[in-house]
Amino acid sequence: MITQLTLVNFKAFRRLELPMGPLTLLTGLNSSGKSSVLQALALLRQSFGPDRSTSPEEGLLLNGELVEVGTARDVLHDDFGSADDLLATDAPVVGFVVDDEVDDEFDDGNVGRFIARYDLQQPDEDVMEAYDFPGWRGFLSLPFQYLHADRITPAVTYPRSRQVAIDRGFLGVRGEHTVNYLRYNAEREVPDGPLRHPNATSPQLLDQTVAWMQELCPGVNLQATAIEGTDFVRLSYGFGGTAGINATRRRRPTNVGFGLTYALPIVVACLTTTPESLILLENPEAHLHPKGQTRMAALISAAAATGAQLVVETHSDHVLNGVRLAVKRGDLRPDDAVIHFFRGNGSGAEVISPRVDEDGMLAQWPEGFFDEWENSLDQLLD
Ligand SMILES: Nc1ncnc2c1ncn2[C@@H]1O[C@H](COP(=O)(O)OP(=O)(O)O)[C@@H](O)[C@H]1O
Ligand SMILES: [Mg+2]
Repeated sequence: MITQLTLVNFKAFRRLELPMGPLTLLTGLNSSGKSSVLQALALLRQSFGPDRSTSPEEGLLLNGELVEVGTARDVLHDDFGSADDLLATDAPVVGFVVDDEVDDEFDDGNVGRFIARYDLQQPDEDVMEAYDFPGWRGFLSLPFQYLHADRITPAVTYPRSRQVAIDRGFLGVRGEHTVNYLRYNAEREVPDGPLRHPNATSPQLLDQTVAWMQELCPGVNLQATAIEGTDFVRLSYGFGGTAGINATRRRRPTNVGFGLTYALPIVVACLTTTPESLILLENPEAHLHPKGQTRMAALISAAAATGAQLVVETHSDHVLNGVRLAVKRGDLRPDDAVIHFFRGNGSGAEVISPRVDEDGMLAQWPEGFFDEWENSLDQLLD
């Protein structure tokens, strides 16, 4: 598990040292640097992980399958500082330092320093020279998902890629391979433990997905089928709960609420975590009703409780509260939920990290941190 990520001269950060846990919540103002943290991990993965098609020796790949951050000029922090503590070089560098703790009594942790050099002659290149990177790349080869805020919308068909969805088990950054993954792995069992939904009809992935989706929309069920003779798959919904002549009729995603399809990749990513997984999620709450958001946080907490590591960017009080409730119920240890509040002020990022206690209470409540409900209420009651 990554216990700390340090970013040097990367986008909004001159230097950021960010402790991480099994579940790390990134919250805070717009444009305060939350997504940049996820992008940093994704950049390392796409540059030095197992799925890079060209040689990792070629350097930090700024535009790839996981993330497209532009050119070296875009990535280097505007007010970049010296990197004396990283390297003896005059050239500006962008650095990522990853502290990784392996659950192995013989292993006392690893520190990986990935440093890319900014070439003053070629600021518009989208590959940065890998100036120093470790032989050790443990966390970069573990099971991985990264779901962007901009995900699949309801569609008539979805892609059917054997290589991405089945061989690699990757859902796609927009979740576009989720339906095919679900079709192929429908009968795969969700291991006994916190992720298993008690009301599901079986431990199999499709039934478990349906049970968690029913938390968002009671009575819903799903089918994922191949369209023979094409390289597409189809998703359909049924609403068995609504009695009547059409109870068994299937509906295509385009005729069903937007939120269900939008949430599906998050549900599948959580249900398929393994204790080694690293899962990056942007706005899992998007398009869900408030209770659905809280339940989504219960699922995310359950995934973290299996030993996986999840890093989640959120704007939702309900996601925050869902995590606090998971701690209070004893589903997640208080120290396993690490909450960061980013308060960027344009010239630098400030991060406040309120701790959660075993009752789900927060040790501090900084101004601007999910306090809008109270602010509005004060004005209403005034
Ligand atoms: N090269 C750079 N130097 C300084 N700041 C940058 C650079 N690139 C992006 N930023 C800043 O990063 C912020 C965007 O970060 P992002 O992670 O997308 O925010 P969030 O996800 O919190 O909305 C913006 O404030 C932007 O000005
Ligand atoms: Mg963001």
